[in-house]
Amino acid sequence: MEFSFKKFLTAPLIAAVGLAVAGCSMPIPEPESIAFKLYEQKCNLCHPVYSPKLLDKKTWGYIIKRMEKKVKATGVREPLTNEEAEVILGYLQKHARERGM
Ligand code: HEC
Repeated sequence: MEFSFKKFLTAPLIAAVGLAVAGCSMPIPEPESIAFKLYEQKCNLCHPVYSPKLLDKKTWGYIIKRMEKKVKATGVREPLTNEEAEVILGYLQKHARERGM
């Protein structure tokens, strides 16, 4: 009884920590590029930036839209212009992982 309850609690926690560790330990490509700097400036306000290798191209497109909804809801910064979104998404997709998670 107690054992299965613990298992129930720790599984999502391990998953969350796993994603965070993977995001931090994966390499950041082209850290000196303007695109990366824009990405860092616009996306590390609520959490550290994730390596583009974490996700595939399609998922990054979806993530940007989802994150912009949070930005609008919280007002932490101005929403991305189309140009900024293109630069950031271009960077993420250029270095994205080949296939889905
Ligand atoms: C307003 C705060 C905020 C900003 C700014 C923000 N994020 Fe997030 N992000 C979150 C939160 C909160 C989560 C935790 C998961 C959730 O709530 O969906 C998250 C999770 C993530 C994840 C983990 C995967 C997932 O689906 O949970 C990725 C990848 C991500 N953000 C990328 C980005 C990118 C790229 C940008 C810049 C375009 C960005 N974030 C900007 C709040 C933000």
